[in-house]
Amino acid sequence: MASYDLTRRIAPHLDRHLVFPLLEFLQERQFYGDDEILKAKIELLSKTNMVDYAMDIHKSLYHTEDVPQDMVDRRVEVVGRLKSLEESAAPLISFLQNASLVQELRPDKQYNLQMLNDRFQIGPDQIEALYQYAKFQFECGNYSGAADYLYQYRALCTNNERSLSALWGKLAAEILMQNWDVALEELNRLKEIIDSKNFVSPLSQLQNRIWLMHWSLFIFFNHENGRNGIIDLFFQDRYMNAIQTNAHHLLRYVATAVVVNKRRRNMLKELIKVIQQEQHSYKDPITEFLECLYVNYDFDGAQRKLRECEDVILNDPFLGKRVEDSSFTTVPLRDEFLENARLFIFETYCRIHQCIDIGMLAEKLDMSYDEAERWIVNLVRNAKLDAKIDSKSGTVIMGPNHLNVYEQIMESTKQLSVRTYMLAKNVSESAAQTAR
Ligand SMILES: *[C@@H]1O[C@H](CO)[C@@H](O)[C@H](O)[C@H]1NC(C)=O
Ligand SMILES: *[C@@H]1O[C@H](CO)[C@@H](O)[C@H](O)[C@H]1NC(C)=O
Ligand SMILES: *[C@@H]1O[C@H](CO)[C@@H](O)[C@H](O)[C@H]1NC(C)=O
Repeated sequence: MASYDLTRRIAPHLDRHLVFPLLEFLQERQFYGDDEILKAKIELLSKTNMVDYAMDIHKSLYHTEDVPQDMVDRRVEVVGRLKSLEESAAPLISFLQNASLVQELRPDKQYNLQMLNDRFQIGPDQIEALYQYAKFQFECGNYSGAADYLYQYRALCTNNERSLSALWGKLAAEILMQNWDVALEELNRLKEIIDSKNFVSPLSQLQNRIWLMHWSLFIFFNHENGRNGIIDLFFQDRYMNAIQTNAHHLLRYVATAVVVNKRRRNMLKELIKVIQQEQHSYKDPITEFLECLYVNYDFDGAQRKLRECEDVILNDPFLGKRVEDSSFTTVPLRDEFLENARLFIFETYCRIHQCIDIGMLAEKLDMSYDEAERWIVNLVRNAKLDAKIDSKSGTVIMGPNHLNVYEQIMESTKQLSVRTYMLAKNVSESAAQTAR
């Protein structure tokens, strides 16, 4: 399973602070040895200002109360630098903390700069100090402080490059605070700048798009409208191009989003095309599942892949998020993926066959016979399919209009709840097994 873990491929495209949540997830899943994760954390922390955190990890990793001298030295350095940055930024910060003065600011950047300069002797140096201070706070792990100051800095900044960098910092801070709505706004703001005609260079544009898509995974798999958002973004030509140029592994996420998003089923064809084009550059059980089903019509292969898909989702930091219920833990995305994937298999099978053996279908859907029969009965009833179930012979017979089954299912899946309690129960059992 470790071969499906994308953390190593994703991390280089993230701010190092954003890698922590991924490591936390892997640690919780006990995917790698605890020591390995702790060492990776210390390595990451060594380039931030979170020295106290690094010391704590060192202590628990080596079961000691002592910390190495270089950590102690680093702490002294960090505290000293924080103090001096605080002093440099103080004039502007005390201005910004005074509500009655802030009210005098206008939506006119030039006016504000002039006013700050004339009345408070706050010039480019003090504004630069605010940026440095905000950045330093971010490195210390004070994301809320950093977000506020970076926001204020951008309102006064006249350097495009710096302003862009502040916006990336603000985005990272909002993600780390899990403010998904604000993070989404910042993401869109960044996208607009990156896509603008006068952006630095095409190469840098490509790189920025790739970063943006990686950072967006946090938002899209947490924000309530994320499953549409990721499809809207990743399928834009320039972004899909970037994926196909230098970020093939992102196909996992866009594929998953398409599978679970019933309303965007129309993207399936485009997705399959890309998966096929990139089959030599990237594959995992999720892309292979779709390939088996829609390119090769290989139902046995699809069924085998579906089992692997479940493991991939459970072990992916973006997809495998657990939700604690009163009685058991579920992984909502896994449940939805399996539900929809089975629907895909069923749809495709129906399109090819007139008469379907329930036992055979149960096997292909990886369900028990009874479960599959109940599932199909519900499906036929709720989707008003033109199909009859013959319990005696254990078959489903598609009516003459069965070629429309695909559309019919699409129509009615909104109110269709295929997720029976039975399935939920099984799912929690298998989750318990995986956790063992
Ligand atoms: C805000 O600035 C005004 C004008 O300089 C000053 O009179 C006032 O005391 C300040 N308020 C606070 C809370 O510092
Ligand atoms: C975070 O930064 C803000 C703004 O500088 C500051 O007021 C706050 O005390 C900082 N929090 C911590 C925990 O250092
Ligand atoms: C679901 O659970 C039932 C009862 O425990 C069992 O008979 C069936 O085989 C399970 N199905 C799957 C797909 O695990």
